[in-house]
Amino acid sequence: MQRGEEGKLMKRILFATGNEDKLKEIRMILKDTGVEVVSMREAGIHADIVEDGTTFEENAAIKAKTVMELSGEIVLSDDSGLEIDALGGAPGVHSARFMGEDTSYDIKNAAILEKLSGVPEDKRTARFVCAVVCALPDGRIFTCRRTMEGRIGYESSGENGFGYDPIFYLPEYECYSAQLSPEKKNEISHRGKALRGMRDILKEEHIL
Ligand code: IMP
Repeated sequence: MQRGEEGKLMKRILFATGNEDKLKEIRMILKDTGVEVVSMREAGIHADIVEDGTTFEENAAIKAKTVMELSGEIVLSDDSGLEIDALGGAPGVHSARFMGEDTSYDIKNAAILEKLSGVPEDKRTARFVCAVVCALPDGRIFTCRRTMEGRIGYESSGENGFGYDPIFYLPEYECYSAQLSPEKKNEISHRGKALRGMRDILKEEHIL
């Protein structure tokens, strides 16, 4: 713990990610709680974690528990991906590794559109899923899973976002996920909702 501007003791949470965008997002969401969010690098934790779980929840828990055990701190982690119903839920937990980690998303997205050629609109349903896990040094584990529902479009469109956003169509907003502003995406995305859900759980449990 450390003292904040008004001399109050500040709680600190370690976010088990190397991704600067995710850190920025969680810092914004937890801004009003006065909690300090630090990255693994800032906390001096280096860990090569094998995410071999079969669900998003399992993978997020593996990361959070491993980093909590190494640091002795409150640790948050997330795991996310895309589930396509017509592909039996693939790429799912393998979203980052689908067709190889180094393959560009232009190629991955084109391959998915190809696999779904001939699949009618009502069978193109899909969702982004995010599981956020918090591991506490006393052994308690909290999990929050949220989704963003949509369908796979017929083309790639939009310049924002990353990964599978250009082929993920949101009927409610009549646009692709890659056409959303970053603010709108955070408001409606699986990750934004799961992080805010976790904030609410931690407040209810008087951890924040
Ligand atoms: P991770 O949770 O950072 O490991 O992300 C897993 C993978 O899921 C990413 O590399 C993307 O392929 C995909 N993914 C997760 N969230 C999104 C999103 O919001 N837009 C596009 N792709 C996503």
